[in-house]
Amino acid sequence: MAAKNVLIVFAHQDPYKSFNGALKDEAVKILQEGGHKVEVSDLYDQKWDPRATKNDFTGSPQNEESFSYVVEQAHAAAQGKLTEDIVSEQEKLKTADLVIFQFPMYWFSVPAILKGWFDKVFAGGVTHAYPANVYENGFMKGKKALLSFTTGGPQSMYTSEALNVYLRARRLSYKLLIQGYVCDRLTSSLRKFYGRYGELVIHYDVPLSRMVDDILS
Ligand SMILES: Cc1cc2nc3c(=O)[nH]c(=O)nc-3n(C[C@H](O)[C@H](O)[C@H](O)COP(=O)(O)O)c2cc1C
Repeated sequence: MAAKNVLIVFAHQDPYKSFNGALKDEAVKILQEGGHKVEVSDLYDQKWDPRATKNDFTGSPQNEESFSYVVEQAHAAAQGKLTEDIVSEQEKLKTADLVIFQFPMYWFSVPAILKGWFDKVFAGGVTHAYPANVYENGFMKGKKALLSFTTGGPQSMYTSEALNVYLRARRLSYKLLIQGYVCDRLTSSLRKFYGRYGELVIHYDVPLSRMVDDILS
């Protein structure tokens, strides 16, 4: 397979000793061994500010009377007036063929710092434009994404039909990698991998390299 660009958006406070850090390191190693180019956005290390505020734009606002983030964001993106921290992430995203989001599950969702990355990086005119350029016609068309997240809850919480129903209800159509399980498109059978605290032994019964090849192909 031709070399691809992979962006790992990493959202954990401890890149060295955490299970998330180990999964990130494993992904970097395997992808680099596969000849792919890997870039990591370590959000805590970058001191990424998740708040969507007026400070995300330079220059004068589009509307002086009242403030709408979505309006100002699209305007600033078109005028080149988004702040450098945001533009830098957008550039990494544009270059990437595959984006891996590596994070611990917080309340069945992503940590706030990652949510703030979505809020600020996915700007109108950059990733999408309403109404014509959304979904399969969005500007990120063709890129692949992998959610790789760990849970505190035990296996039994995530083997149940209840979880599948919950996730389907949220219309997540990504391939999900869950601590203890790899869940392929949510509906197919779950495949195990084993992660153990302490030694941080990670074993994928579907090799990560093959999984990445499958996603990228
Ligand atoms: C604010 C917060 C919310 C959490 N919500 C969940 C949750 O909804 N489900 C779950 O299984 N674990 C939840 N956890 C536990 C984390 O997912 C768990 O500590 C993490 O995946 C462990 O990964 P690490 O060893 O890399 O830190 C939560 C933890 C925190 C701090």
